[in-house]
Amino acid sequence: MKISGTPYRTIWLADDADGGIGAVEIIDQTKLPHAFLTVRLETMADAATAIRDMWVRGAPLIGATAAYGMALAMRADPSDGNLTAAYNTLMATRPTAVNLRWALDDVLAVLTNLPAERRVEAAYRRAAEICDDDVEICSSIGDHGLPLIRGAWEKRGKPERVNVLTHCNAGWLATVDWGTALAPIYKAHDAGIPVHVWVDETRPRNQGASLTAWELNQHGVPHTVIVDNVGGHLMQHGMVDLCITGTDRTTRTGDVANKIGTYLKALAAHDNGVPFYVALPGPTIDWTVRDGVAEIPIEERDAAEVTVLTGRTASGDIADITITPDGSPAANYAFDVTPARLVSGLVTERGVCAASEQGLAGLYPEFAPKSAGG
Ligand code: MRU
Repeated sequence: MKISGTPYRTIWLADDADGGIGAVEIIDQTKLPHAFLTVRLETMADAATAIRDMWVRGAPLIGATAAYGMALAMRADPSDGNLTAAYNTLMATRPTAVNLRWALDDVLAVLTNLPAERRVEAAYRRAAEICDDDVEICSSIGDHGLPLIRGAWEKRGKPERVNVLTHCNAGWLATVDWGTALAPIYKAHDAGIPVHVWVDETRPRNQGASLTAWELNQHGVPHTVIVDNVGGHLMQHGMVDLCITGTDRTTRTGDVANKIGTYLKALAAHDNGVPFYVALPGPTIDWTVRDGVAEIPIEERDAAEVTVLTGRTASGDIADITITPDGSPAANYAFDVTPARLVSGLVTERGVCAASEQGLAGLYPEFAPKSAGG
């Protein structure tokens, strides 16, 4: 996607003055929307910090960054010991998005049986392929999701705008390019459908207000930022045609873990007959998990993300303010699980399917447990 007219991905190989295989560059998403800064990752530890501290975030981008983290580790020391250490360090960065494990397992499988002297080149090549594949996958998610938006618009007789509600940031900033939930929105906008997006602010880190709003703005997609509690009201009053969110881990039965608050939106959508779609790439499916509520690990983050807000003051400075009384504890659960029964459909790179074991098995027969494929 473009930033002020210049095409960007969220992660790329940095220019290297001496022409060798070098550092990796990312956008520091903690600085958006007030500043656009890029950061060079020189070491595996840098990549681990970037994921843990959410300079990069979003399930697919976490996976891509971890893959490059393995490459940076091999650049420093391609021994078996360092391969294992890098895998373990990167795996421990964030618990919920399964793309992390998927990417690390993938790169590890490529490198394990290679002699040390071939590992650097192989790791960089595989990390680049993972990134390229993600772009293709997300573009296909957009192609498969576009008819859902077009259908909602046509069903209402092509009004002046068709309203899509989204939660958190599942746009191009959360992937390598295009996004998952936002890919159909970009494709619909580009196809001339008058799509308008209700952007949940997504407390506590405000990925909606800061990142989704920023990237929709960059692409010229009409949108309105709302506080997280508004969605139910909008749905009761016919002001949402469909919801589309992303997911950090989808069970083989179609339960979806996503940013905290997604479940409440799905409940409101269900109560009001509003279609609730979840967009995801294949690597976000965890075929080992059946019951999302019981089995998906939910990240708990620093309480300071709840008690302290960061923003731009009238004078242009970036400042932190505390919004809770001294001494009040806060809890910060970062994700929740929406059961499959509340999900109208899963939008994948292979098409749209029911949020069920049969639905996913039909699209991914090669991964599905034998009993589910039919
Ligand atoms: O904590 P974050 O910002 O990494 O959470 C991101 C989300 O919950 C996204 O919706 C999800 O990763 C899907 S991204 C395409």
